[in-house]
Amino acid sequence: MFFSRPKLAILCGCCLLTSVLDVIAQSKNSKISLLDNQSRLQSTAQTLALMPFPSEISVKEGKFRLATSSAIQIQGNPHQRLYSAASRFLRSVGNRTGIHFGQGYLTPQDTVLLPSIVVHCKRAGKVEFGENEGYTLTVTPETITIQAETDIGAIRGLSTLAQLVASDADGYYIPALAVNDKPRFPWRGLMLDVARHFFSVDVVKRQLDLLEAVKMNVLHLHLSDDQGFRLESKLFPKLHEMGSDGQYFTQEEMRGIIRYADERGIRIIPEFDLPGHSTAWYIGYPEFSSGSTATFGGPYKIDRRFGRNSPVMNPTKEETYTFLDGFFKEMCELFPDEYFHIGGDENNGKQWAANPDIQAFMKANNLPTKEALQNYFNKRLLGILTKNNKKMMGWDEIFVEGVPKSIMIQSWQGKEAMYKAARQGYTALLSHGYYIDLNQSTEFHYLNEPLPDSVKLSPAEAKLIAGGEATMWSEWVDKDILDSRIWPRTAAIAERLWSKSGQNNVADMYRRLDAISTLLEEKGSTHERNVPVLLRRLVQSPQIPFPQENDVKPLQNLIEVLETVKEYKRGQLLGQPNYSTFLPLTSIPDVVRPDSRTARHFRATMKRYLQSRTNSTLAEATDADKAVLIRHLQLWKDNHTPFVRLIETAPRLRDIEEHSLLLSMLSQVSLDALSMLENNIPATPQWKEITMLLIQRAKQPRAFTDIMIMPAVEDLVKAVSRK
Ligand code: ACM
Repeated sequence: MFFSRPKLAILCGCCLLTSVLDVIAQSKNSKISLLDNQSRLQSTAQTLALMPFPSEISVKEGKFRLATSSAIQIQGNPHQRLYSAASRFLRSVGNRTGIHFGQGYLTPQDTVLLPSIVVHCKRAGKVEFGENEGYTLTVTPETITIQAETDIGAIRGLSTLAQLVASDADGYYIPALAVNDKPRFPWRGLMLDVARHFFSVDVVKRQLDLLEAVKMNVLHLHLSDDQGFRLESKLFPKLHEMGSDGQYFTQEEMRGIIRYADERGIRIIPEFDLPGHSTAWYIGYPEFSSGSTATFGGPYKIDRRFGRNSPVMNPTKEETYTFLDGFFKEMCELFPDEYFHIGGDENNGKQWAANPDIQAFMKANNLPTKEALQNYFNKRLLGILTKNNKKMMGWDEIFVEGVPKSIMIQSWQGKEAMYKAARQGYTALLSHGYYIDLNQSTEFHYLNEPLPDSVKLSPAEAKLIAGGEATMWSEWVDKDILDSRIWPRTAAIAERLWSKSGQNNVADMYRRLDAISTLLEEKGSTHERNVPVLLRRLVQSPQIPFPQENDVKPLQNLIEVLETVKEYKRGQLLGQPNYSTFLPLTSIPDVVRPDSRTARHFRATMKRYLQSRTNSTLAEATDADKAVLIRHLQLWKDNHTPFVRLIETAPRLRDIEEHSLLLSMLSQVSLDALSMLENNIPATPQWKEITMLLIQRAKQPRAFTDIMIMPAVEDLVKAVSRK
C-alpha cells in the first residue's frame, strides 16, 4: 500500500525501538492466538455430543465434508460383520444428512478407487468376553481413518463417527480430530426381563441397535420366571407350551436374535432363573418342584402376581438333574456365549422347609441351611454347565463359601457384595445402582461408580470387576413404554462403564444426553415418540375422537414436571394382589418420564437465578433466567382450568387433578415470591405459613407420581423469607 511503512527502511533509534516493540507485540499476539486456537479447539472437543466420551480426543483445525463421493473402503482382515456395519453406518448417516452416497457394494471383493473413509482392522474379532474393542479414529479435511485390532473395535469406531456428524450453513461434516479409545470395562450390558412381560423379536432387535449406538456389548435375557417361560424347548415342550401364554421365542427366532447381536458385536447371555423364581417350569413339569403332596403342590398356574414366590426346584431328586442335564445341553448348544446365567436369587425356602423328604435329605447330607442346599444344587448345575463348556454366572446369592472361582457373580444387593467376591478371587459384575426399573434419575445411575477411590482393592482384585449391566425388570413395562424406561438413561450407564472414571460431570452428561436421545430416536427408540401416542390415548373420547396438539397440551404441560415414584414405592402403595401382569401400563405413572427434563431445567435455572441475583456482574444472566422462570410459572398457573375441562371427557386424568391444582397454586405463589424478591418486599409470616402448607401438600405423591419442581419452589421461598 502506498502509505504503508517500508519494511526494511533505514531506521533511526526511536523508530528501531518502536519496531522492536512491534515485533515483540506481534509475536506475543501470535502466541496468544496460538493458545487461543488450542483452547478453542479444546473447547470444541468439550462441546461434542459423544456418549460414551472417548478416553482420548483432540480436535484439530478443519472439517471433513460429507458428500455423495464419500466412500468407505474396508481393509485388513475383518469378519463379515464389518461390511454390514459399514453399510448400516452409511444408511444411517445418509438418512440424517440427506446425502445420497454413491458407495458401491461393500463386500471383500469390491474396491473403491479413492476411498475417503478407510476402516482397517487386523483380524476378525470374536464376540466373547474380553475381546479387544479399542480403535483409533483420525479425521482430516481429506480423509477419515478408523484403525482397530478387531472389526468389533472398528464397529465401536463407526458408532463414534456416527455421533460426530455436524452441520453448518455449507452442509454436513465431521470435525477434524484424533480419537484413541478403548473401554474401561469389558462387560457393559443390559439385562432385559422377557418373563414378566414378553417382548417380541422386533423389540429385542431394536434394543440391540440402541446398545450398539452406545457401545454396549451384552444383552442378557432373563428368559424364565414365575410369570412365564419364554423360550421353546424341543426336548421339554411343556415348558414353553404350558408356561407361557403362547408368548415365547422359538429357537429359530432366538438364533435370529443371536445373529443380529453378533453383527453388532454384542453377546447374548441367557438366564434361566433357578431354583426359585421358577413357577412357570412346574405347570408342565410339577414333579421337579419341591411341593410335597401327591401332586407336588400343584397343579401350578402361571403366576400373575409379582414378588418373591415360593415354588422352587427340588434339588434332592436325581430325576431333577437328569431333566436339567437334557435341558441345559439343549440350551448350551443354542447359545454360543461361554457364560450361562442360572439366576439363583430370592429363594424364600418355604417349599423346602415344608417338604419332609427334602428336610430328611438335608439332614442326611449335612446341609443345615437352605443356603447350603442351594449351594449343593448350584454345584450340580455347575457340573452340567462345565460339561457343556460353559461358565456359570448368577446373582449374589450363588456366592457362598467354597464355590469354584470360575463362576461370575452379578451383584444386585450392593457393591460390598461385589468387592467381597473380588477379594476372594471371583469375577463380578455390578447391577446394584443400575436398576433402571426403579425410575431413578440419569444422574443417580451415572454417578454409580463401580470402583470409587474409597474402595480398597488390589489392582488384581479390581481387574476382577468386569463391568456392569443396566437391569430392566419388567413388572412395570410393556412394549409401549419399555424404551422410555431403558433410554436414554442407559446411555449414561454405558458411559460409566466405557469411559474413564473422571468423566463424571453431571451437567455435561445431561447436555450430551439431549443429542444422544435424538440419535437413539433416529435408531428406532420409541422413548420420546410414544409419549404423544400415550397422551392421545388418555384424552381420546367420543367428544375428542382425534386429539390434536392443543387438546393434549394441558395434560402434557402437567406430566412434563412429574416423575413416577422411585424405587419400590409404586408396588408398596398398590400392595398385593393389586399388582400383577394385567395391570394397565398406560396410566399417568407410565406416561411420565423417569427423569423430567423440564423440571430439571427449572430447578437449575432457579438455582442459577438465586445465586446470581446478588452478584451485579451477572445481571444479564439473572434477567434471562428470571424470564424463563416466569414463562414456566405462568404456563403452569394457567394450566389448571383447561386441565379440569379435559377431565370432563378423560376420566383417567382425575387422579392428578390435585397435582394440577397444587402446581397452579404453587406457580402463583412463586410468581409472587419472585416479585417480592425483585422489589425487596419481605414475606409476611402468614404468607410463609400458607406457602409451607401448600408445599407440604404438593410433596405428596398422587397417581404414583411426584411433582419435581418442589426443591426450586422451596429455595425460592427460603430466599424471600430471608429478606
Ligand atoms: C433380583 O433383583 N432379584 C436379582
